[in-house]
Amino acid sequence: MTSNGGADVGARGGAFPPGFLWGAATASYQVEGAVADDGRAPSVWDTFSHTPGKVAGGDTGDVACDFYHRYEEDLELIAGLGLSAFRFSIAWPRVQPDGRGAINQAGLDFYRALVDGLLARGVTPAITLFHWDLPQALEDRGGWAVRDTAERFADYAAIVAGALGDAEALWITLNEPQQVAHQGYRIGTHAPGHTDNVLAAAATHHLLLGHGLALARLRELLPGGTKVGISLDIHPVRGVGEDAAQAVEILDAEINRVFFDPVVHGRYPGAARPHILPPGALIAPGDLELIHAPVDFLGINYYNPHYVAIADGADPGIGGVIGAVDVKPDELPRTSMGWLIEPDGLLDALVAVAGETPEGLELYVTENGCAAPDVLDSDGEVEDRARIDYLYGHIDAVRRAVDRGVPLAGYFVWSLLDNFEWAWGYDKRFGLIYVDFETQRRVPKRSASFYREIAVSNVLPGEPPPSQAALR
Ligand code: FCB
Repeated sequence: MTSNGGADVGARGGAFPPGFLWGAATASYQVEGAVADDGRAPSVWDTFSHTPGKVAGGDTGDVACDFYHRYEEDLELIAGLGLSAFRFSIAWPRVQPDGRGAINQAGLDFYRALVDGLLARGVTPAITLFHWDLPQALEDRGGWAVRDTAERFADYAAIVAGALGDAEALWITLNEPQQVAHQGYRIGTHAPGHTDNVLAAAATHHLLLGHGLALARLRELLPGGTKVGISLDIHPVRGVGEDAAQAVEILDAEINRVFFDPVVHGRYPGAARPHILPPGALIAPGDLELIHAPVDFLGINYYNPHYVAIADGADPGIGGVIGAVDVKPDELPRTSMGWLIEPDGLLDALVAVAGETPEGLELYVTENGCAAPDVLDSDGEVEDRARIDYLYGHIDAVRRAVDRGVPLAGYFVWSLLDNFEWAWGYDKRFGLIYVDFETQRRVPKRSASFYREIAVSNVLPGEPPPSQAALR
């Protein structure tokens, strides 16, 4: 995760292994809307988005893409895209409104219908149990900063397994727990909005423990052979200048290894600074064994690398709570999020992860994609050239990783639909499908046809398609 430059030149494009899954991903709070329908209770994201100043433009997930009501139309779009997999998350407060105790059958019924609709179309469901929308009732009792939430998460996982366990699906316990601990508890830019190192370190351990406890329950309840894993965000860390080595090691430990190492190696990374790591008193005997229990696959979410340097007189503690000084090379292009575009970062991440995980452990890219300034033109088209180029480069990086022997089994674009991009609201469009949020009209973008070709043929062409402008 800290290597510099996996770049290799050679022919681009090529075939993927038979059975490789081509998917698109979403998350409950970002698409569902219907926040008060059929017994759903508030999540931390309802509270946070309704708190003035927390989300750009005062946007909330109240309606989002209205996926809860329009999922049948969206299933048709998924089928039309030729996808072989669809990743979605379950809203815990829809299924168990208080986060403990009573089950809301209407919530389970919704996800059952969604799963059945996918299976009927030959699409493998990839079910994420937690993509950040913790029941507010649990946050009121301490949220992920308390151990009880990990136990409650395992109970909730068992409820979902009871309702959906017979479907042939991939199961993902947590999505990017690092972002929950860091943005949600340490710097406060995400729900529940705490700014407290002590709470963040505790949340880190309890999220991991929640994964471990849920994994054990899923093993008991799901049919043998069902694949269970976790999705971690991996950011390769590059050093700029010779004196950056220590900063690289610290940043890598704090943004990647604090979750990766316990799951993969059964220990917290020694290089992380003490305030990032959970205190020993929170780690009960047996916790790390649960967290380190074998998974069937690892999901990697990749968007961008980080570059770190030691500025004059700075030490690795200076650049903010996660350490080091983050430098962004001007020569690299960026997405509308301001995130660096570097497909080789994905190759490096995959090669590095495969080098540390057990031989043959399947990897999936469970998220990759970009925000772009998409507009619906007067012909009713969205010419998202930037996204086609982004996807081409990154899918080619996946292909190069396969060529190097990385056991990759699938790739999911973030996202199927333009949606509620957390603290950025609706301004940042990540979808293969454009959503007019006034009318809820869906319009597949040019990138949707590009991706469809790949999904259906299982081949990345040798060149990206010519731009439509060039064809006219
Ligand atoms: C990831 C999140 C996902 C989405 C993308 C852009 O960190 O998992 O929900 O917001 O970023």
